Amino acid sequence: MTNSSEFNSDLPNYKLCPKLLVGQKALVTGANSGIGQAVAIGLARAGADVIINYVTNDAAAQEVVKLIEAEGVRGMAIEADVSKEVEVVDMFAKALDAFGTLDILVPNAGLQRDSSLVNMTLSEWNTVIGINLTGQFLCIREAVKEFLRRGVRKEVSCAAGKIICMSSVHEVIPWAGHANYAASKGGIFMMMKSMAQELAPHRIRVNSIGPGAIRTPINTAAWSTPEAYAALMDLVPYRRIGEPEDIANVAVFLASDMADYIHVLFIFVDGGMTCYPGFATGG
Ligand code: BGC
Repeated sequence: MTNSSEFNSDLPNYKLCPKLLVGQKALVTGANSGIGQAVAIGLARAGADVIINYVTNDAAAQEVVKLIEAEGVRGMAIEADVSKEVEVVDMFAKALDAFGTLDILVPNAGLQRDSSLVNMTLSEWNTVIGINLTGQFLCIREAVKEFLRRGVRKEVSCAAGKIICMSSVHEVIPWAGHANYAASKGGIFMMMKSMAQELAPHRIRVNSIGPGAIRTPINTAAWSTPEAYAALMDLVPYRRIGEPEDIANVAVFLASDMADYIHVLFIFVDGGMTCYPGFATGG
């Protein structure tokens, strides 16, 4: 799904994947490209039926559905703008109608509208907060209604539901020129913790993944030339860019009963970006 890179010759072998999620139903937002696409396919490979949400590029979404179905499970694409309440409510109605219930939600849809502070328009601010933060809230709220209604399905999982928020290293790393984006990810931090506190007694597990620099369309400028890639590596102690599958593998684990006692975990999948590599020699 992602191209192997001329800059990377040391990628791990990701072929091993136990069928941890057989019989479960998942919904991944923003899943017609990048991390969302890889997570959707990873969940499918682990045995879940997967609905992907998208907002533009229907053709790409249908391609991802084909890749999901090639894993021997059911796939479906639903168009919805996750920042719009009516569209989210409608998406969940369609999803439940088609799949009967839901076990796993990965609110992943996210975008950047980068700008220096004084040039940032209110529209750029609101778009990013709307999709990245409000969109997660709206989708989680609808998923949780179904998890609470249905409770635990012992035959597929110990938990009544699993939520894996897609955050970012910029949940903790400040990012000049990206105040809207960093604020949205910082918001996920407390939103996720507060929801997790509320939902744990209902056996709903809430965790989040904070990707670092992953090879996706959102950050093409950061990796698509040798110069950019070399500069990026100054920020990544492990000295390779992340692949979408690096995130998918963690999502599969967190969604599975192998992680049944893991709740309120913020896991950075970032090759060490959050260990402030500048301080390896400076300070
Ligand atoms: C951003 C990317 C960036 C990465 C590391 C992600 O959350 O979307 O554009 O490359 O963080 O800075």
